[in-house]
Amino acid sequence: MTRQSVLLEWLDELIAKAPADRRRALDLVVDRLHRSCPDYHWTGIYLVDGDQLMLGPYRGSPTEHTRISLGKGICGSAAISGQTEIVDDVASDSRYLACFPDTRSEIVVPIRRNGAVIGEIDIDSQKPSAFNEQDQTYLELVAERLAELL
Ligand code: SME
Repeated sequence: MTRQSVLLEWLDELIAKAPADRRRALDLVVDRLHRSCPDYHWTGIYLVDGDQLMLGPYRGSPTEHTRISLGKGICGSAAISGQTEIVDDVASDSRYLACFPDTRSEIVVPIRRNGAVIGEIDIDSQKPSAFNEQDQTYLELVAERLAELL
């Protein structure tokens, strides 16, 4: 079993337990997710709050972007489109909101419930083109499950 499939199984068990403290559960998920791949250098969850994304639990350095308007940055774009964004080279994407000087690539995966975006997974990597279709498939499965937890 891969680290990814172990995490998905663990997440299914966590959801089945219907944890009363969802905040703590979400923090645990971010922690496991961050450790599931060595190329994930910053891992966080943003939650939709009105017309903004609000930073929830994260692992990695603190960021100044704790609130992002829908439509702004890679995160805000994914929140509007509802589609996963993979940016192989953040320096060449004019939408990019810089958080960390050493970030080279980024993936943003919306968390949708009943068609509406309620949050997203955001992962930064110091490696260029760190995210591929496998990451996308894996993280979209995590996002589906997170919709049940949020
Ligand atoms: N780079 C993101 C902002 C969030 S940080 O990566 C944590 C963006 O362009 O929306």
